[in-house]
Amino acid sequence: MLAAAENLSDIPNRIHQPVMSVEVRDLLCERRPLRIIDATVGTGGHAAVLLQNSPSASCLLGLDRDPHALETAQARLIQFGARARLNNADFADLDVEARKAGFDQVDAILADLGMSTFALDDPNRGFSFRYDGPLDMRMDPSEPVRAYDLVNETGERELAHIIYEYGEERASRRIARAIVSARSRAPIATTGELRTLLERVLGPHRGGVHPATRTFQALRISVNHELQSLQRFLEKAPGLLAKGGRICVLAYHSLEDRPAKERFRELGREPDFTLLTRKAMRPSPAETADNPRSRSARLRSLERNL
Ligand SMILES: C[S@@+](CC[C@H](N)C(=O)[O-])C[C@H]1O[C@@H](n2cnc3c(N)ncnc32)[C@H](O)[C@@H]1O
Repeated sequence: MLAAAENLSDIPNRIHQPVMSVEVRDLLCERRPLRIIDATVGTGGHAAVLLQNSPSASCLLGLDRDPHALETAQARLIQFGARARLNNADFADLDVEARKAGFDQVDAILADLGMSTFALDDPNRGFSFRYDGPLDMRMDPSEPVRAYDLVNETGERELAHIIYEYGEERASRRIARAIVSARSRAPIATTGELRTLLERVLGPHRGGVHPATRTFQALRISVNHELQSLQRFLEKAPGLLAKGGRICVLAYHSLEDRPAKERFRELGREPDFTLLTRKAMRPSPAETADNPRSRSARLRSLERNL
């Protein structure tokens, strides 16, 4: 269990608005789950919804790699007492964490992928090109490699590969060349410096997607081994479901949606599982108007048959 957050007064500003929470609630709470894992508890928005809408005997294990998010989640979930247990862990180790919490099998699993607004909007974490801050991007600050290390120490070909594979950026080679040239004069130390370089290489922002978006996404995915963790999570999570148990995955870009789509489709062809979402569910127009960051969300769900 984590120590209580020291200063709770700023919590409302740090809270992330849970995406598609009605759809997630309807899918995961329909069968009145008793054992729930929120694999990306973040600041606890979905977890609170799940606990409010499941039997009072239910218990939720919330995991997150980000200890700062967990402090906020803990303050938010304190109202549920011992029903909410939080742990600082990578969801790639879901099976180990579930066992440690005494869950052999579970009735509901949620993975709401990507970043919380709370981390994204903190300039000191270095996730966003919208704020100037150190080039960090680690979800777990105890991890050894920062975006700074990747940008300043990775060879040009490898850098281009990362930007292409994880950012789907067609100008990856030009960007890598410009980074290597710039860092030969002085290290690229801040999100602002990298943003300026990207605007120089790709041209200024003229509406639509900002030119820094894909490269920042690529660096973040690489720093946090996001796709490798997701792959391990998707291999393990369905096997933890009890009969009638359900899993939901919320993804925000195609690189994280594709593995979930493929894994659920493959399992849906087996007699033990039913695919609950042939096509991904999308947020309602009302939700995207209220919370523009929800607009790219795709929700997929799978059930273990009774
Ligand atoms: C979109 S946010 C979740 C928000 C949460 N559903 C809520 O309502 O507050 C995604 C969270 O997943 C966490 N995360 C990302 N990859 C992770 C991983 N491999 N293991 C554990 N947590 C991870 C991030 O630190 C972030 O807090």
